[in-house]
Amino acid sequence: MKNFAVSLAVAATLLSSFVVAQDGTPTIVQGGANPYTCDPTKCIAPKCLCASQSPPGGIKPADAPQFVTITFDDSVQPELIQTAADLLNVQNPNGCKAKGSWYVSMMYTDFALVQQWFAEGNEVADHTFTHVGTPSAQEIQAAADMLYSYAGVPHGMLKGFRAPFLNYTADTLKEIQAQGFLYDTSATAVVDDNYWPYTLDNGMANDCWTGICNPGTVNLPGVWEVPMYAVLDNASVPQLMDVYLSGTPEDVTNWSQTNFDRHYNGNRQPFGIYVHPTHLTNYPGLPDATAQKAGVVNFIQSLAGKPDVWFVTNDQLLQWMQNPVPASQLANQTYMQCQKPVTPKEICNGLETLNITSGVVSGPLLNACNFNTSNFATCYNCPGSAPTLETPVPASAVANGTSGYRTPLPDNCSPFWWDPVAGQCLCTTSSCAYQDTALPKQQNSTNGTSSGSSNGSSASSSGKASGASPGPVVASTLSIAAAIFISLIM
Ligand SMILES: *[C@@H]1O[C@H](CO)[C@@H](O)[C@H](O)[C@H]1NC(C)=O
Ligand SMILES: *[C@@H]1O[C@H](CO)[C@@H](O)[C@H](O)[C@H]1NC(C)=O
Ligand SMILES: *[C@@H]1O[C@H](CO)[C@@H](O)[C@H](O)[C@H]1NC(C)=O
Ligand SMILES: *[C@@H]1O[C@H](CO)[C@@H](O)[C@H](O)[C@H]1NC(C)=O
Ligand SMILES: *[C@@H]1O[C@H](CO)[C@@H](O)[C@H](O)[C@H]1NC(C)=O
Ligand SMILES: *[C@@H]1O[C@H](CO)[C@@H](O)[C@H](O)[C@H]1NC(C)=O
Ligand SMILES: *[C@@H]1O[C@H](CO)[C@@H](O)[C@H](O)[C@H]1NC(C)=O
Ligand SMILES: *[C@@H]1O[C@H](CO)[C@@H](O)[C@H](O)[C@H]1NC(C)=O
Ligand SMILES: *[C@@H]1O[C@H](CO)[C@@H](O)[C@H](O)[C@H]1NC(C)=O
Ligand SMILES: *[C@@H]1O[C@H](CO)[C@@H](O)[C@H](O)[C@H]1NC(C)=O
Repeated sequence: MKNFAVSLAVAATLLSSFVVAQDGTPTIVQGGANPYTCDPTKCIAPKCLCASQSPPGGIKPADAPQFVTITFDDSVQPELIQTAADLLNVQNPNGCKAKGSWYVSMMYTDFALVQQWFAEGNEVADHTFTHVGTPSAQEIQAAADMLYSYAGVPHGMLKGFRAPFLNYTADTLKEIQAQGFLYDTSATAVVDDNYWPYTLDNGMANDCWTGICNPGTVNLPGVWEVPMYAVLDNASVPQLMDVYLSGTPEDVTNWSQTNFDRHYNGNRQPFGIYVHPTHLTNYPGLPDATAQKAGVVNFIQSLAGKPDVWFVTNDQLLQWMQNPVPASQLANQTYMQCQKPVTPKEICNGLETLNITSGVVSGPLLNACNFNTSNFATCYNCPGSAPTLETPVPASAVANGTSGYRTPLPDNCSPFWWDPVAGQCLCTTSSCAYQDTALPKQQNSTNGTSSGSSNGSSASSSGKASGASPGPVVASTLSIAAAIFISLIM
């Protein structure tokens, strides 16, 4: 307890000195030469799409949906996921709830919450293991392995990547392709380069001042870039991440509205709201974020009334880009539906409501994995030792074939229908069938066998395991301090 108090105090001190730092915003330079070229008669949809300010498929701007993408970065924790839920508390024109994308870094992340976020229809994407700029292949792959092993996110559904600090290079993009990702979303679009998403067959068309657009620098067929759309403030300075840290809530709402209108009344390029949820969440001893959060929530709710405004994940946005339809037909598209699986029993995917006796969703079914800096709950097996960059998925604490072993998600079952406790796929119709055909992000781990050195407590298997309580609760409180620390020093 004493240690905990100390670490919070440390975090608080750090926060006050670092809070003005917009941890994700890179230097943004406007103007300059753009050497990008692309011949639309050779680059043919849906596999290839040239960067363009106009909507794809010849759709007139007035007929295009105005997409709004709300994205979240870094670790997933109870307080942060609540902040995300408060922002996404609006409906799309077809009556489905708004969806968001989360670029997840591994440290301090609670994987049971990742699984629940995913089961709700939101997107889970890769933001590296330790949140490093210019990430190595291993940093990217370790995150993919952990999201699969502890949150049941199949490689084929892990489509997106965002570089920490948005600090990517040509090599980062090449690595994204090598590991089978569909898209990157780390580049900045301002006004002159305010492109709809495009494929990298002909290279980059954003951030050209860095040299990234020079011919031959990146040519990655089939990999998409989803530019991040900057907001010009009242001095025409582009703001990108955590725009709410750059002015009063009134000013930020004014800039956001002005920029949204420029998109909406112009070429309808997507509009982005890019959030580090730590900055919109209140913690004891830290500056009160209530007003900033209310400003963002109110702005989002003001947009939600329009019949052609859709709050989507980047994954949904790209499904539309590959098969664009007028806004009037969007309600019907498969990827815009929101039916949730109804399973005959609780399967620990966060959607069940029958057994929430502990106040924790899927509580009785969760395993609590407790290590020094990685405390998390999961529906899958706890590792036998703390995950590291070198060994992100250590051998499981419980051996295959022994009581309490959770069966990993197989490649022929949808994660929303997989019961890891029984090792059973509950999908019985073709409408829920799923086959993961993705190039597996190369696993660097042993298979689920027990290792002698194991020390992660596996709370349970049978329902008698004390409802996950001590584990996740202690874990999450400890994580908060740590996460603030991480988010501010990194
Ligand atoms: C960003 O990338 C550049 C080039 O790889 C590197 O020199 C720099 O250290 C990186 N910055 C951060 C914060 O990682
Ligand atoms: C796998 O892990 C080992 C250390 O255990 C490391 O040396 C190696 O580089 C890793 N391989 C990949 C492809 O990440
Ligand atoms: C522009 O926004 C800043 C930051 O909120 C504010 O201090 C300033 O007064 C604003 N300027 C004008 C002209 O509105
Ligand atoms: C933003 O503020 C300026 C200056 O007060 C005002 O002229 C403009 O109408 C405002 N724009 C919006 C969209 O509220
Ligand atoms: C939706 O799709 C069905 C057939 O799949 C069609 O009959 C209906 O007209 C469509 N509705 C809209 C609004 O496009
Ligand atoms: C765990 O934390 C304790 C106290 O903070 C420290 O003494 C110990 O070395 C740590 N163990 C590992 C394996 O990091
Ligand atoms: C677990 O053990 C069973 C029975 O030996 C085997 O069929 C299965 O492939 C094993 N699962 C994994 C993930 O190794
Ligand atoms: C892990 O399991 C897979 C399939 O079950 C197998 O192909 C692979 O060789 C195993 N790897 C190790 C290190 O045992
Ligand atoms: C795990 O570590 C703790 C403290 O280091 C120890 O008390 C406990 O017995 C260990 N558990 C296992 C299963 O090794
Ligand atoms: C609720 O949980 C209990 C024990 O944890 C289990 O026996 C029961 O089957 C669960 N109910 C449902 C509907 O899954």
